[in-house]
Parts: sequence; structure tokens; C-alpha cells
Amino acid sequence: MKLVFELSGEYEKIPYGEVKAVLDVESDSYSIDEKYDNVLLIDVVNPKIQNIGRRLALSHCILEHIDTAPSLKELLKTAESIDTDKTYSVRVKRVKSHLKSLEIPQIEKKIGKQISGKVNLDNPKEEYRIILSNGYLIMGRVKKIINKQEYHLRGPNQRPFFRPGAVKSKFARSVVNLVRPKKGDIFLDVFCGTGSYLLEASSIGIESIGVDANKEVIKGCMKNIKKFGSGASVVRADAMELPFKANSIDAIVLDPPYGRSSKIYGSTLQNLIQKSVKEGLTSLKDGGFMCLILPNNVNIDVRIDEIEAYENRVHASLSRLIRIYQK
Ligand SMILES: C[S@@+](CC[C@H](N)C(=O)[O-])C[C@H]1O[C@@H](n2cnc3c(N)ncnc32)[C@H](O)[C@@H]1O
Repeated sequence: MKLVFELSGEYEKIPYGEVKAVLDVESDSYSIDEKYDNVLLIDVVNPKIQNIGRRLALSHCILEHIDTAPSLKELLKTAESIDTDKTYSVRVKRVKSHLKSLEIPQIEKKIGKQISGKVNLDNPKEEYRIILSNGYLIMGRVKKIINKQEYHLRGPNQRPFFRPGAVKSKFARSVVNLVRPKKGDIFLDVFCGTGSYLLEASSIGIESIGVDANKEVIKGCMKNIKKFGSGASVVRADAMELPFKANSIDAIVLDPPYGRSSKIYGSTLQNLIQKSVKEGLTSLKDGGFMCLILPNNVNIDVRIDEIEAYENRVHASLSRLIRIYQK
């Protein structure tokens, strides 16, 4: 089945990586047909649409692909062949300023007229969506609209325990997705702080454990876990001596303190990162995924090759690199 993913455009290239990572877990196989600005067209075998939509944080919607047309004229021909017995609506979304010469209400009206069936703009049974990107009109039938409300509800300033350095929920969910945890897996957040990654992993049904060296942080993190009904557990421990058996964890995120807004316990930054990465890799199962988030000016030797990396500019003087490894 060919699916169109409309990406949110946040966090540079992460939305593209997030879709691929989620499909690794929630489909039999896939191949990317086309990549446009904020749009992916992917041929997916046996996609679990509900789960994919439930997991993705940095996509707006998933469509079943109908056509990619170079002009409205071409798309009108395709729309003419659509015959539905359900009520429907047509919605057009423009990515940035692509195909600026086309007027959105005009496209909606013209395409809506071509489809044979009954229009219902308020409560349609089917929604057709057309995305304008890179000179194309990409049309599909909506399979899933992604609900973003939950991320605001769990946002750093909604948590009873807050610390500077707390990560935004949507970003945290996308990072959890990048380490590809499946149902039944164990997810570990090594420098858990306020629990951003834990809350996201457990909200998609993944058993989650957090580690932090600070007693007050552990207490606070437990309050956050309690408020959001998440079943995660937390352990006070040093990231340089993790209390887990070798090869026992399926997916790990390491988001160490940079010594700016949060404190480093027991070591220098370089040593802490080096040793916690070594510990993380020992705890990780063979084939498991690990994410390491660092400022782009810190270099670290991680004995295995990274499979993906993303850069995200936080502010003028700080970029973070999100590196993904598979053991
Ligand atoms: C950048 S913050 C983590 C932020 C967290 N991801 C969040 O969203 O709230 C880093 C955390 O690492 C903890 N930490 C510092 N040194 C540590 C160590 N040696 N072992 C374990 N945790 C440590 C700090 O207490 C702090 O909570």
C-alpha cells in the first residue's frame, strides 16, 4: 500500500527519520518512493496504521496515496475517476510557499466537483487531502490524522516537577521512536531528569526504566510519572555504573547533562559520557538501538558505527547532535 506522510517540518530532518523508524517497528517492510519537502511517499507492506499514527509525533497525517500530479489539470482527470458512496470533503495543504500560483480554495472547489459523491464539509465520512510540495499536487485519502494534544498535556511546564533542561514532549517522543522499541521491550532513559523520554515511551505501552544520580530528581521524576499515569520505574544510580545485567535492555536513550543547565555528578563531561556510553552498550541487547544526544562540539568514541545522525539547532550557540547506534 502506498502511503503519504505529511511531516510537521519541526526539528529539521528528524520527522523523516521518525517515520522510517516507526515503520521498522509497525510494518512488515517498506521502500521509500519519493521524498519531497515535508512529504514522504512510501510503499509499505502490511502497515499497522493505528499504531503508526499513535506513535508519530512529527507528522500531521497519513494518507493512502491516490496520485502525484504535476498540474491541477492532471489531478482533475484523476479526481474524475473517483466514485464514492460516502460523504467526503477535500482539503488542500501548502508546504511553505510551494506552487504559490495555485489558490487553495480554487483547488478544493474544482477537485470536490470532479469526485462523484456527496460533499459534506462538516462531518464527512471520507477526507481527501492534497499536499502542494516541490511542484507537485500529492493527493490521498486520509487514513489517520495525528493528534498532538497529548504533547501539550505532558509538556515540561505541565509537570509537577520541572528542571531547566527538561525536554519537550514531542521531541522526546520522536527520540523514543528513533530507538525503535516494540511492545514487550524494555526501554532505558539513562539521565532521566524530569522523565521526558520515560513519559513518552510508557505512553505508547513500552516498559520503561529511568536512571538519575540525584535523589531529588528521582523523587520529582516519580511525581511526574504518577501524574501522567505512566507505569515507568526509576532507579537512583550512577550512569557510569549501571545496575543492569549485560544484554538485558532493548532500547536506550542517553541525554547527558552538558554542565550548562544541569549538573554533572561524579566526573568531567568527557569522562561521564565515555563511561556511560560504555555501560549503556554493555546493558543493551545485541541488535538493540541506542540514542546519544550531545552538543555538536563534544567528540566521543562509541565503539560501534552510528546508523543515523540528526542535527538540531537549539539556539544561536548550541546545536545538539542526535546519534543513533545499533549494537
Ligand atoms: C540534561 S538532564 C536530563 C534532562 C531530561 N532528559 C529531562 O527531560 O528532564 C541530565 C540529568 O543527568 C543527571 N546526572 C548528572 N550526572 C549523572 C550521573 N553521573 N549519573 C546519572 N545521572 C546523572 C542530572 O541529575 C540530570 O537530571
